[in-house]
Amino acid sequence: MSTLDQYDATASPEVPERFPNPGLEQHKPRLTDVDPRANKRAERIVVLLFLVSVLASVAALVAYFLIPLDGTLFNLRLSTAVLGAGLGLGMLGIGMAAIHWAKALMNDTVRVELRHAQRLDDEGRRVAAQMMVDGVNDSGIARRPVLKGALAGAAALAPLPILVPLVGNLGDDWNVSKFRHTIWGDTPEGTFGSLPDGSVGRRLARDPEDTPIKASDVTIGSVFHVIPHGLTEEEHYYEEKAKAVVLLVRLDPRDLKESPEKADWSYDGIVAYSKICTHVGCPVALYEQQTHHLLCPCHQSTFDIGDEAKVVFGPAKRPLPQLPITVDTEGYLVARSDFREPIGPSFWERLK
Ligand code: FES
Repeated sequence: MSTLDQYDATASPEVPERFPNPGLEQHKPRLTDVDPRANKRAERIVVLLFLVSVLASVAALVAYFLIPLDGTLFNLRLSTAVLGAGLGLGMLGIGMAAIHWAKALMNDTVRVELRHAQRLDDEGRRVAAQMMVDGVNDSGIARRPVLKGALAGAAALAPLPILVPLVGNLGDDWNVSKFRHTIWGDTPEGTFGSLPDGSVGRRLARDPEDTPIKASDVTIGSVFHVIPHGLTEEEHYYEEKAKAVVLLVRLDPRDLKESPEKADWSYDGIVAYSKICTHVGCPVALYEQQTHHLLCPCHQSTFDIGDEAKVVFGPAKRPLPQLPITVDTEGYLVARSDFREPIGPSFWERLK
């Protein structure tokens, strides 16, 4: 590495010269290099940008505590919007401050680095480490305590809008037990159908109409987006819906591969699987009728509905959880029970 004065493009004789080396432009000092007031102004702008970041992070935290997530759509949207805006501005403030700091205040030296083998020799590594130290010194952070404080404050607060809601929502429940259960196993009055053996099961209903589905409504190849009947009456509608959504598909029974322990989890070729991808939780909903493949649009995990929703492609590590279903005495599809395993990303499975 060398400065402009030391740079010589013809220093390496094995590199053929194909056109005249135009050299580098004459270096012009920046206003902040020659005018102390401009330098001070630039410093204030950087502090101001860090301050914007701090205020945005604080606003996001305040909004998290002030806007109650009481199940109303308005509050849910408001909380999401303010948290998102606070987080975004918090990060943006730090980013813009860092760029302005680098462009206006850090030492303005033109350097040229010629290509070389990737692994430096020991001397080169020592020089690289020294360059990092020089870089820190160049940034002037030691001489500018206000800037240092502003940077520390903004960087310390910026992660909080992520961490505080995470900790607040999980509370003591780091085992995320609420994701182990959905309301498919609950059967409040008016939501279930009776089975021939005297037990009851929650009816499967169309999403979002909440109308129960008869097995005879489901033709081969058709797909239904399904919620538990009566879900619209639930207190935590969105949370429960996010966990309980199911995709219902009817195949020719001869195309279904079923293990003995799941032999009675389907009804006449009708199968129901969680729509929450086992990779990182996107909704899987792109069904290919010919191949019986179900595709997750986020990272292309593909599940074979004809073979217990096993993963045939992509980053997901386990099949989609299957909802055991049957029909009640009136011909409506009902869940035999809740899912028998946690829904969602494989992470929860490992915490068993
Ligand atoms: S969330 Fe479905 S593949 Fe990543």
